[in-house]
Amino acid sequence: MIFTIAIDGPAAAGKGTISRRLAERFGFAHLDTGLLYRAVGALELQGQDAVAAANALDPSDLEREDLRTPEVAQAASRVAAIGAVRQALVDFQRDFARREGGAVLDGRDIGTVICPEAEVKLFVTASAEVRAERRFKELSEKGIDTDYPSVLADVAARDRRDTERADAPMRAAEDAVVLDTSEMDIETAVARAEKEVSAAL
Ligand code: C5P
Repeated sequence: MIFTIAIDGPAAAGKGTISRRLAERFGFAHLDTGLLYRAVGALELQGQDAVAAANALDPSDLEREDLRTPEVAQAASRVAAIGAVRQALVDFQRDFARREGGAVLDGRDIGTVICPEAEVKLFVTASAEVRAERRFKELSEKGIDTDYPSVLADVAARDRRDTERADAPMRAAEDAVVLDTSEMDIETAVARAEKEVSAAL
């Protein structure tokens, strides 16, 4: 069976958790596409050319320990604005989406650019303050030293860059179901997402 679930939205809105839970529940493969941009961002921070790094990206690059740091997140959103970087990553994502057995991809442009034909499209969002609070908690639990105002500034800067870039800006596809999780607990959000998928299967 070929079946693609596209999940887009800003950082820390809950799309990672929803994607993982959907993949588990329906037995689909999961690709966190943000990791691709983070891996390119991390290589750029080490002095590599972003476009060359994107073209030569290797699965092992996605396993680096430092991909979750705020510095790498910022570098990811900078390199993600370069059209040639995005282009280099398209085929890998499309092949993953159409693999046998079903796939969940989460990112910013999955429903609009990578898989406009996805069987299910969700746009998961929440207020910047709520997202920053969640991300701050997550980072603190991982032992990453930061504070709420910096996390909020980081989230806001990435939102701006991701929505304002010319190439594949973050937005909900016209036919996406929008899930605002600002006042929703994660279990409710997952249940809503599962219902959408069950209805389309
Ligand atoms: O989702 P995550 O926070 O890991 O993404 C890191 C950055 O990668 C985002 O801020 C965004 O700039 C970029 N990204 C993108 N398109 C995607 C996934 C991520 O531009 N499909």
